[in-house]
Amino acid sequence: ANAVSLNLTDIQGDILIGMKKNKELFFFFGIENATEFKAKLKSDILPLVTTTTQLLNVSTQPTTALNIAFSQTGLFALNITDNLNDAPFAGGQLADIGNLGDPGTTNWVPQFVGTDIHGVILLASDTVDNINTELASIQSKLGDCITEIYSLQGAARPGNEQGHEHFGFLDGISNPAVQGFQTPFPGQAVVPTGEILVGEDGDSFSRPAWAKDGSFLVFRQLKQIVPEFNKFLLDNPIHIPALTPEQGSELLGARMIGRWKSGAPVFLAPLVDDPVLGADPTRNNNFTYVLPGQTVANTTDQSKCPFSAHIRKTRPRADIGLPETNNHHIVRGGIPYGPEVTAAEAASNTTTIDRGLAFVCYQSSTAAGFQFLQNLWADNTQFVHSGVGFDPIIGANQGAQRAVSGLDPTNPSRTITLATDFVVSRGGEYFFSPSLSAIANTLSV
Ligand code: HEM
Repeated sequence: ANAVSLNLTDIQGDILIGMKKNKELFFFFGIENATEFKAKLKSDILPLVTTTTQLLNVSTQPTTALNIAFSQTGLFALNITDNLNDAPFAGGQLADIGNLGDPGTTNWVPQFVGTDIHGVILLASDTVDNINTELASIQSKLGDCITEIYSLQGAARPGNEQGHEHFGFLDGISNPAVQGFQTPFPGQAVVPTGEILVGEDGDSFSRPAWAKDGSFLVFRQLKQIVPEFNKFLLDNPIHIPALTPEQGSELLGARMIGRWKSGAPVFLAPLVDDPVLGADPTRNNNFTYVLPGQTVANTTDQSKCPFSAHIRKTRPRADIGLPETNNHHIVRGGIPYGPEVTAAEAASNTTTIDRGLAFVCYQSSTAAGFQFLQNLWADNTQFVHSGVGFDPIIGANQGAQRAVSGLDPTNPSRTITLATDFVVSRGGEYFFSPSLSAIANTLSV
């Protein structure tokens, strides 16, 4: 049931439900002339900003959806000096690098190294042509008052891989439902509006009034080295008599994520994939990590799902207590970027072309959301119990090797040392995605 309480025509569309198109461009810009930019933001960009209401109904979805968000230096460039009370946002992502586990900026896209990026325009459509047409039209309107600093074209993977990230796993299954706005599927987290939207119920920070119904947007360009990941799985199959070596490799990959490629959770399908389960939204999120017949999560059992599994690290469900009243939920809205693995890359087990995830997530607090999940859960070897090790997908150790336990169900205390990071951070930026009224009445005046 859709809430009457949220002003959905004022909330940018990507935040709560995502623009959900097969192509999405991230256009990072700097503001050259604030006065002119403000005028054009109001007259030309604001009418194009796609609202949540517009996205909810197919008939009102534009050919190319547009959202816009600003960095701290972008707000300063617009002479907005109010304190949004979000420390990671205020400092920018580069200054936060020590909390994220990145090995310095060696692998960062050079344009992310610094604080020059003032904002990002998100353009989503069915085709790249539509996006380019819209971008050209925006650029001609904005003229010299902005400069392009960097762009990243995202695209859903082709054919049956649509909706799957580059390692091959179905993505976008488990996002929290916002209280009073979405009816939760079984097992979906339900969060107060203020956990995602600034100034709403449950947001305990003091904010300027105009920031209400905005959300902090974290962008990260996460490169995935896919042939190397596949080779690692092939070289390290889990040995279970009932499984072929290929199935043992599949099982290792599934236990690293916590789901099979179809999306079926390993907690419910511990040995082989179950595509019917994976495709069923009424069942594929309906688990808590509490074993059948028990009432609380067992602190030692990893037979069904490792504590280190990516989805268990980033949403521990009953491991940290039910109901899930913790405030560490994010709404993810990313999209893959880069081409499919080529035959040459597969044959040499070596990535030569940049591909990965254009990671986007929304929260009312960057510190309680993205930063917390990355720093205090994924990168924390003692979470959720001592000796668990890193999240094998996104856990990062400043470039040093990562030890992961629990992956082998026949010997959960066995530690597997990952020689390399299969996900390599190429950096990003922290943004604030304001409400339409904030754009109209504050940012553009
Ligand atoms: C879930 C892959 C980065 C947080 C998932 C799922 C996959 C996946 C396949 C399962 C599908 C789903 O539940 O929707 C990846 C890959 C990444 C990446 C390949 C990097 C290239 C991140 C980052 C974070 C994150 C950086 C946050 C710091 C989450 C969360 C879930 C999730 C919160 C849902 C867990 C749940 O509700 O059970 N990811 N992810 N992911 N991921 Fe990631």
